Amino acid sequence: MTSTTAPAGDQRGAYFEQLYQQDADPWRVRERWYEERKRALLLACLPQRRYRNAYEPGCGNGELTLELARRCERLLAADFSAEALLLAQQRLADAGQAGNVAFERHKLPQDWPRTTKGAEKFDLIVVSEIAYYLSADELALLVEHSVASLAPGGSIALCHWRAPFAQRILSTVRVHDAFQHAPGLHCLLRHEETDFLLGVWSNDERSVAQKEGFA
Ligand SMILES: C[S@@+](CC[C@H](N)C(=O)[O-])C[C@H]1O[C@@H](n2cnc3c(N)ncnc32)[C@H](O)[C@@H]1O
Repeated sequence: MTSTTAPAGDQRGAYFEQLYQQDADPWRVRERWYEERKRALLLACLPQRRYRNAYEPGCGNGELTLELARRCERLLAADFSAEALLLAQQRLADAGQAGNVAFERHKLPQDWPRTTKGAEKFDLIVVSEIAYYLSADELALLVEHSVASLAPGGSIALCHWRAPFAQRILSTVRVHDAFQHAPGLHCLLRHEETDFLLGVWSNDERSVAQKEGFA
């Protein structure tokens, strides 16, 4: 069982900032086949072809952001690293895909965008390789915010590396279980590999075929 508390004197922001300043692609998401394939799987698992208003916290250097932007009318991409946000913005601008993406500096879970006071809810929330950096209390808040800001019929997709590593606070199983047991969410899909877990939850339990009206 992994520890469930944030590190004393929380240095998590500084850790990521330094990482991106030293290396624009610390996890080799742009060159590894592992990453390319995982992104393709995640994108294939999203139950809708198009999304109106999506949120991707922890967007990193924007590789997944670019693919999501191609499926969304509007995408809010956020990270607590200013350097990561610059890299992501550059990536989307270079690909000519920046027009429908807003970038904001958010520290999760406290900076979760407010969608309750008249603002439009998200029909897609993608949490990829970020939630195991949170403490147990922060994870609980992440789940609460995700459920509360999900539009009717919307989906939450999670994808996380399984093996333990030094900076991880919570295990991947613990993170995905928190969404599995969240009131009001139904699991639409669970993909399990030696390396990672991928899951999709929605507040609408109908399958893709049921929603399209032929099942
Ligand atoms: C491993 S990278 C994943 C990037 C991208 N989502 C992907 O799947 O390739 C984790 C990212 O989450 C960001 N991050 C970690 N903890 C965060 C937090 N509490 N709030 C906001 N961003 C955070 C880091 O700065 C980093 O860019």
